[in-house]
Amino acid sequence: VKKIIIDTDPGQDDAMTILLALASPEIALLGITTVAGNVSVDCTTRNALKTLELAQRPDVPVYRGAERPLVAPGVMAAHVHGATGFDGHDLPTPRLTPASGSAAEFLVRTLMEHDPGTVTVCAIGPLTNLGLALRLEPAIADRVERIVLMGGAFAEVGNITCAAEFNFFVDPHAAAMVCQSGIPLTVIPLDVTHQLHTTRARVARFAALGNRVGRVVADWLTFEKTFEAEKYGTDGGPLHDPNTVAWLLAPHLYRGREVALQVETQGALTQGASVVDWWGITDLPRNALFLRQVDGDGVYELLFERLARLP
Ligand code: BDR
Ligand code: CA
Repeated sequence: VKKIIIDTDPGQDDAMTILLALASPEIALLGITTVAGNVSVDCTTRNALKTLELAQRPDVPVYRGAERPLVAPGVMAAHVHGATGFDGHDLPTPRLTPASGSAAEFLVRTLMEHDPGTVTVCAIGPLTNLGLALRLEPAIADRVERIVLMGGAFAEVGNITCAAEFNFFVDPHAAAMVCQSGIPLTVIPLDVTHQLHTTRARVARFAALGNRVGRVVADWLTFEKTFEAEKYGTDGGPLHDPNTVAWLLAPHLYRGREVALQVETQGALTQGASVVDWWGITDLPRNALFLRQVDGDGVYELLFERLARLP
């Protein structure tokens, strides 16, 4: 069983990632850490708790994380996710409460307590909490098995500015720290997520799973689709964050390369841009498995099969 922590800013697609992990017996979810991103950290923390109640998993602890990025001013994305982060289908106010202590403290404690190379972090929001944890205890870099993150882009480039993907843009300094940390990285960029359209037919499959989770997910994707499909002119928008857990479960559905990956923190027009040495033109050390291709139907079949197991 693979032990993971999910660092997240739910967000509909973040919540789907948590649900996919909870539905998968190959994975033990040690805890969830929250961060400001799609919406405020109060809201993302509430949404993580709501997601656990939806899945009837009150045993998983939630740690509230950073309110704002390390250096950058902070940007949110209520225009994509709605004011609640769960527009399309908001869930009841949670009775669960966050665990005490901060997200960064939980990350440090957990990574230092477990044997080296036995805990993976799935990072699906701005990377602020990991940046803070690395500052608090640099030795975690030698303890964490791998960070599987959704962020960046090579050819599909920007979704928040012309040059940058949202998670890297919001906290480029934290993203750069993670890239320079020496921790093994798997990166799911927009190049992958834009191949996974939430088409009408796929949304209908979620709605027909026969459980509450399926209906909620269908409502969430219908809401996001309205915005994203208009923006991209496709049948359905991209599907981002669940690819992190899907890669852990079924890496054969993805193809990529080991590359040198850097994040721009200075550029006036290019803040948060991912700078990817796809063609191996530098001598920089290869620090990331950067995925570019995905079997979209395979990922959706995995999601249908797993989410159907939940309440
Ligand atoms: C990322 O930004 C957020 O809106 C999504 O949840 C995802 O993590 C995509 O750029
Ligand atoms: Ca996210």
